[in-house]
Amino acid sequence: MKFCMSSVFYFLVIITVFLPLIVADLNSDKQALLEFHAAVPHRRNLNWNSTNPICTTWVGITCTQDNSSVLALRLPGVGFIGRIPSNTLGKLGSLKILSLRSNRFNGDLPSDITTLPSLQYLYLQHNNLTGDLPASFSLQLNVLDLSFNSFTGNISETIQNLTSLTRLNLQNNNLSGAIPNLNLTRLKQLNLSYNQLSGPIPSSLQRFPSSSFIGNSLLCGPPLQACSPSPSPSPSPTFSPPPPEFPKKQGSKKKLSLGVIIAIAVGGSVVLLLLALIVLCCCLKKKDNGGRSVLKGKASGGGRSEKPKEEFGSGVQEPEKNKLVFFEGCSYNFDLEDLLRASAEVLGKGSYGTAYKAVLEESTTVVVKRLKEVVVGKKDFEQQMEIIGRVGQHPNVVPLRAYYYSKDEKLLVYDYIPGGSLSTLLHGDRGGGRSPLDWESRVKISLGIARGISHVHSVGGPKFTHGNIKSSNVLINQEHDGCISDLGLTPLMNVPATPSRSVGYRAPEVIETRKHTHKSDVYSFGVLLLEMLTGKAPLQSPRRDDMVDLPRWVQSVVREEWTAEVFDVELMRFQNIEEEMVQMLQIAMACVAKVADMRPNMDEVVRMIEEVRQSDSENRPSSEENKSKDSNVQTP
Ligand SMILES: *[C@@H]1O[C@H](CO)[C@@H](O)[C@H](O)[C@H]1NC(C)=O
Ligand SMILES: *[C@@H]1O[C@H](CO)[C@@H](O)[C@H](O)[C@H]1NC(C)=O
Ligand SMILES: *[C@@H]1O[C@H](CO)[C@@H](O)[C@H](O)[C@H]1NC(C)=O
Ligand SMILES: *[C@@H]1O[C@H](CO)[C@@H](O)[C@H](O)[C@H]1NC(C)=O
Ligand SMILES: *[C@@H]1O[C@H](CO)[C@@H](O)[C@H](O)[C@H]1NC(C)=O
Ligand SMILES: *[C@@H]1O[C@H](CO)[C@@H](O)[C@H](O)[C@H]1NC(C)=O
Ligand SMILES: *[C@@H]1O[C@H](CO)[C@@H](O)[C@H](O)[C@H]1NC(C)=O
Ligand SMILES: *[C@@H]1O[C@H](CO)[C@@H](O)[C@H](O)[C@H]1NC(C)=O
Repeated sequence: MKFCMSSVFYFLVIITVFLPLIVADLNSDKQALLEFHAAVPHRRNLNWNSTNPICTTWVGITCTQDNSSVLALRLPGVGFIGRIPSNTLGKLGSLKILSLRSNRFNGDLPSDITTLPSLQYLYLQHNNLTGDLPASFSLQLNVLDLSFNSFTGNISETIQNLTSLTRLNLQNNNLSGAIPNLNLTRLKQLNLSYNQLSGPIPSSLQRFPSSSFIGNSLLCGPPLQACSPSPSPSPSPTFSPPPPEFPKKQGSKKKLSLGVIIAIAVGGSVVLLLLALIVLCCCLKKKDNGGRSVLKGKASGGGRSEKPKEEFGSGVQEPEKNKLVFFEGCSYNFDLEDLLRASAEVLGKGSYGTAYKAVLEESTTVVVKRLKEVVVGKKDFEQQMEIIGRVGQHPNVVPLRAYYYSKDEKLLVYDYIPGGSLSTLLHGDRGGGRSPLDWESRVKISLGIARGISHVHSVGGPKFTHGNIKSSNVLINQEHDGCISDLGLTPLMNVPATPSRSVGYRAPEVIETRKHTHKSDVYSFGVLLLEMLTGKAPLQSPRRDDMVDLPRWVQSVVREEWTAEVFDVELMRFQNIEEEMVQMLQIAMACVAKVADMRPNMDEVVRMIEEVRQSDSENRPSSEENKSKDSNVQTP
């Protein structure tokens, strides 16, 4: 009995001691947040109502599992403006993740935030914070992103203490002085670009690429240009200056390796040139010898293998000329007759011809595209096919498997991609029972397509373009990734003069000159992005009066201050994505710049989207968490 009594007593003691602590913790967090909320004007309603439960109803808050304190505060792009008040967020003792990026905070960054004891992820990029970088930080920090602000002063040496740091982004500020010798072994990503940093790059950071340091005209040493032998501009006290020979030695070393590189490059290109000449000679010779046997010549030139000895019809005069030409590495095993016998279903009629889904025996399914109005001769056609076959080897490009050319019939055989087209997913059956394409999928598909096009550009060379990027040419594969189809056909075709769906994707200079370039592909891709963001087709209907040129329409809306209007209503049900949408919108707008030279390259576009992606996964709750907030949303 006594024992029992005493244990009850202890239990009560424990309860009375610890319960208030837990409650007090959440209450003090709440108080701190309310003070922050009251002190900083913002555009979006955060629903931080003191009478409602903070862990479940307040926007941007994630609590610990036992609801005892606030674990993460993520409010990117909600229109905060003004200073970050000290003694507010700095009281969130358990905060691990803080994201206030892409707002309009200005003034100093209070150090009580950077020293929050549990803080691991701090995202404050794309604000207008000024003053010195704080000197003290939580030793737990994993990610520190203060890029795209207006910080000045030196990079503090105390960053050296942050041994858990994996990512440090300080680019696009106005930091000066030397870079301290940050011996951070776990650091995976570093960006100090576009500041006013000076002096040699410390040896511990030379493992990072030059793009981690660009835009600092006074920085030198690997991976940038060697330091000049003259006394380096400002060896600061923070940087323990190496003996004066050090930069010199580096310089000569660098020069030497440069020389070697040049020698290798020259040697390599000579060898390549010779090889190319030999191949060319072979081709020409074969053509001369073989007379009409064009196929043979092509095979040796293009490294493509035809399907061996399968003729498609007994009644055909010149069987050699009328074969399906398969590309190397293609495992299909059928001939033209099989193809013509297959049960076919029309998939769609495009401006270049009609696409059929053909189900062959052995349950092989392919897409056969029957081109109309091919305006080039057989040789040009075959050459282009050869390039398309080679360039199309990428997970985000629908591969061309075979083609057939005769005077009356031109057929292309592609893999069948079961997921349908982006166009259908975006515009098909709106308001019907379908589940809208969620944000994650849209970003993933866009990134895939960007990668595919970037690959096409880099492998195809400066003259080879996709030429017909549009949402109906974006197919969704089993991994829910985007695959671009129909590349490289434009130069073969008589582009129809009648307005078609693809008109809205054409860059201004293409409409004028009909010449496609990489940059006109970028434009089309930008329109595709806008379509994905707005849910609107590029040209609503050529007849309607309110017909919009999507880029111009978006520009006009965006100019009028706030951008929320432009986004697809179907995206509004997903939480915490505004800021990423704005980022994607910015990328899209860069792509649809009127002047071609102002547009980024496709590989730059890939990088930009990857950045959105990256912050995506780090900065937001998982998609499940995201979706569960809205029970209407069906997971795909
Ligand atoms: C907070 O919510 C309660 C009920 O949920 C409501 O009556 C009250 O007006 C709200 N307060 C504010 C400031 O929005
Ligand atoms: C925390 O709050 C959520 C949402 O109200 C609830 O589902 C969960 O059971 C709570 N957890 C604890 C430990 O109280
Ligand atoms: C950032 O702040 C500076 C001065 O505080 C101001 O001149 C500038 O316009 C601000 N920039 C933005 C983008 O708000
Ligand atoms: C952090 O680094 C500074 C200088 O690099 C050093 O003086 C200080 O003791 C370090 N602090 C901790 C907590 O390690
Ligand atoms: C950056 O700092 C330099 C001095 O270090 C100053 O001259 C310059 O005006 C600053 N630039 C901006 C954009 O604040
Ligand atoms: C960097 O730190 C590691 C261990 O933390 C140490 O072994 C190494 O010598 C240091 N390098 C420099 C250049 O300080
Ligand atoms: C660093 O940032 C600059 C400017 O935003 C960018 O151009 C560069 O590619 C970035 N470098 C790395 C390594 O991410
Ligand atoms: C920054 O470093 C420079 C030398 O590189 C030094 O003269 C200056 O005092 C430092 N400034 C601050 C604010 O630490």
